[in-house]
Amino acid sequence: MTKSNYVKIFDTTLRDGEQSPGATMTSAEKLEVARSLARMGVDIIEAGFPAASPDDLEAVRRIAAEVGCQPPGRNDARVPIITGLARANKSDIDKAWEAVREAEKPRIHTFLATSPIHMKHKLKMDPEEVIQRVSEMVAYARSLCADVEFSPEDAGRSDPEFLYVVLGEAIKAGATTLNIPDTVGYTTPDEFYNLIDGIIKNTPGMHDGITVSVHCHDDLGLATANTLAGIRAGARQAEVTINGIGERAGNTSLEEVVMTLKTRHPVFNLETGIDTTQIARVSKQVSNYTGMVVQPNKAIVGANAFAHEAGIHQDGMLKHNLTYEIMRPEDVGVNQTKLVLGKHSGRHALRSRLAEMGHSLDESELDKAFARFKELADRKKVITDADLEALIADEFYRPRDVYYLEGLQVSCGTLGMPTATVRLRGPDRAEHVHASMGTGPVDATYKAIDAIVNTPCKLLEFNIHAITEGIDALGEVTVRIQGTNGHHTMDAQKEVEFSRVYGGHGADTDIIVASAKAYINALNKLIIAQTEGLQPATNDFGVMLG
Ligand code: KIV
Ligand code: ZN
Repeated sequence: MTKSNYVKIFDTTLRDGEQSPGATMTSAEKLEVARSLARMGVDIIEAGFPAASPDDLEAVRRIAAEVGCQPPGRNDARVPIITGLARANKSDIDKAWEAVREAEKPRIHTFLATSPIHMKHKLKMDPEEVIQRVSEMVAYARSLCADVEFSPEDAGRSDPEFLYVVLGEAIKAGATTLNIPDTVGYTTPDEFYNLIDGIIKNTPGMHDGITVSVHCHDDLGLATANTLAGIRAGARQAEVTINGIGERAGNTSLEEVVMTLKTRHPVFNLETGIDTTQIARVSKQVSNYTGMVVQPNKAIVGANAFAHEAGIHQDGMLKHNLTYEIMRPEDVGVNQTKLVLGKHSGRHALRSRLAEMGHSLDESELDKAFARFKELADRKKVITDADLEALIADEFYRPRDVYYLEGLQVSCGTLGMPTATVRLRGPDRAEHVHASMGTGPVDATYKAIDAIVNTPCKLLEFNIHAITEGIDALGEVTVRIQGTNGHHTMDAQKEVEFSRVYGGHGADTDIIVASAKAYINALNKLIIAQTEGLQPATNDFGVMLG
C-alpha cells in the first residue's frame, strides 16, 4: 500500500459535514466552498451524495465540471479529485458516476456496513451476503471509473478478521482506496492504531497501489487523536471537514489534523499539500454559509485560539511569543489582514483585493460589490478582508431570494414597547409591509417577518458578533431555525422534511438589519426546501448517513 510521507487530505465538508443538522448549503454556496477547498490544496473533495436528490446530483456535477477541471486556457493547474458517495447498489453508483464523470480526476466512493449490529439490524444481511455485495458493487463501480474508494461503515465496531476478508474482496474487485470509518466515534487512539495496523498487515492482496484512509467521528472527542493514530499506523489519507462539522458531534477537523502534522513535524515527519494560511478564511466561509458558529475555544479556528487573556500569559507573550504560542496566528491566516480599503479606494483596488482573496467577479457582480463597498465605506472608516468576506457572503452567496428585505424601521428603548415595521418583497414580486411589537427590537422584527412570511418555524439559535474592532464595526448575525408543521397533520417523511434545521447569515453595520437578513436567509432556505421538496439524505433504511 501507498506509504509515502505525503498524507492526502480528503475533505467531506460538502457531504458528511453538510448532512449535519442545520448545515444545509445552497448550490452556489457549495460551489464556492469547493473552490476554496481546491485553492487551499485539498487533494480530494467529496462534493455530496448524488443519490439523495436531483439537486444534490446537480451540485456535485457542477463542482466536478467547474472545480474538478482546469480553468479555461490552462493546463498546469493542480485540480483536486472529485468524488461522490454511493450506497453499495447500482442505482446510487450510477448517479455518483453521472455526477463526477466530467471531472478530470473522478472517483466513486461506495460503502457498506460491516459491524454485527449494522449487518443484523440495519442491513438485515448476513456476513456472506455483505462480502458478496461489496465484491459486486466495487467491481461495478470500477467498470465505470478507474478510481474507486470503498468504506466498510462502522469499521470501528467491526470484527477485524471479518474486515480483512471484506477489504481483501474490495481490493480484488478493483478498489484503489480503502477508507476505515469509525462511524460512531467509538474507538480509542490505541484501538484505532491497532485496527489500521492490522488491516495493513493482514488484508489479503494489500499492495503499493492501495491507499489506506481514515474517517473518524468525534462522539467521544477523540476524532483527531484517532485520525493521527491511524496515520501513525500507516494510513495516508485523512477524511476531514472544515470546523469539524458533521453528524452528531462531527467529523475530524481538517485544521486540527493539518496543523498537528505541521506543528509537530519532527514527530510525524509527514507532509500535506494544504496552504495553511487559508484555514481561517475557509473556516469563516463555512461558518457563514451554514450558520454554524465555531465555538470560541475551538482549536486553531476558534475566536480565542490565539487570544491571551490571563495577565501571566500576556506578560510571557510580550517577552517572547513562543512562551505561550505553539503556532503563529499568521500560519493559519488569522490577523493576516494588513491591507485596508477606505472611502477613497476605487473599483480597481476592490477588484484586485477580491481577486487576491479568491473571488473573481464578473462586471455586473463587481458593480454590486462596489456599491455595497461604497455604502459600507460611508459608515466605516477602514474596510478589512473580514469585512469584504462578510459583504461578499451577504451579497452573492445567500440563498435564492424568496423574500427580500427592502426596508426596516425599529423603535426601541426604555420609554415604550419595541416596535418594528418591516417591508419585504415577496415571491409574487409584491410588496408586503407589517408592523409588530416585541420584547425587544429583534423580537419585534422577527414577529413582523413571521406575519408576512407565514412559515411556521422555531428559532433555535441566534448569535451576534462584531466582525472587527471599533464602534463602526460590521455586525454579523447567524441564526438556526427549524421548520415546524403548524397545525397540519402529515406523514413521517414529510414531518422529517419540515423539521430540518437551516442556518442563515447576515451582515450590516446596523445589527437589527443584520438580524433581519440572517432570519430571512434561513427562512428562504426553509421555504425552498419545503416547496421544492428537498429531501434529507437518508440511506435505504431511513437512517442518516454518518
Ligand atoms: O462515517 C461513516 O461511516 C461515513 C461513511 C459513509 C464513509 O461517513
Ligand atoms: Zn462519516
